[in-house]
Amino acid sequence: MPRVLGRLLQWPLPALWAWSGAWALAIALRAAEAPLWATLGLPMVLGVCVTWLPGGADTSWRRVFVAGGFPLSVLLMGQGSGVPAWLWLLPLLLLLVAYPMHAWRDAPVFPTPEGALRTLPVHAPLHGAAPRILDAGCGMGDALRELHQAYPHADLEGVEWSWLWRAVAAWRCRSARVRRGDMWADDWSAFDLVYLFQRPETMPRALAKARAEMRPGSWLVSLEFAAVDEAGRIWPADAHFTQEGGRPVWVYRMGSARQG
Ligand SMILES: C[S@@+](CC[C@H](N)C(=O)[O-])C[C@H]1O[C@@H](n2cnc3c(N)ncnc32)[C@H](O)[C@@H]1O
Repeated sequence: MPRVLGRLLQWPLPALWAWSGAWALAIALRAAEAPLWATLGLPMVLGVCVTWLPGGADTSWRRVFVAGGFPLSVLLMGQGSGVPAWLWLLPLLLLLVAYPMHAWRDAPVFPTPEGALRTLPVHAPLHGAAPRILDAGCGMGDALRELHQAYPHADLEGVEWSWLWRAVAAWRCRSARVRRGDMWADDWSAFDLVYLFQRPETMPRALAKARAEMRPGSWLVSLEFAAVDEAGRIWPADAHFTQEGGRPVWVYRMGSARQG
């Protein structure tokens, strides 16, 4: 896909294009004095069609956003009851606050489920008085809370790009230091364990960073997505486990014999 097109289809821009297209169509149909069912129905069909396009919306939530924007904005505006038209942009602005541009490539906020890391210390034991743990992209702080339960003696830190989620995480996890920043700018050599819950596309970059910076014997832990190197090869895990009905947890010991 050409670069410019790729940028134009970077989330959440497809939602903006779909909503604008649906409104443009509705306005054109209204000007043409089309019946009400067509003025409201055809733009909704357009929104649904956009979700089928490659790059339009690649997760269930995104499909809901893309297809739901037009009908929601019509409902909110009471079909033109005097509420200003720009108000329909409000959900998009909220989306941008919660999910700023820089984080689009990596992962949206999606919390680590409760109990998912309960047995992590069995697979990745941490010794010493206050081992340092980083949650890279800590979202609303759910993983920090789980990590605190798993390693109550650890020195916990979270970094999060979104101002909003950074504030929520700091409020919910008083035991951790939570800062706003770019997880890629951090030096991971200071940490005994780095925890990630990102996206499959992020894993080659994360693995390369961990291999370049993390000390032998420290741990990289990823929820859901296995580490993959830049050639797309799955990196051998030292352990993996799944709590009942949950997501897999992949555990890598840096410098382990398994990794050759
Ligand atoms: C799937 S959520 C995981 C949240 C948390 N780690 C947990 O497991 O509960 C991923 C988070 O990473 C954040 N994020 C994505 N890219 C980032 C970056 N480059 N720097 C810091 N945070 C980032 C997103 O804003 C989002 O909150």
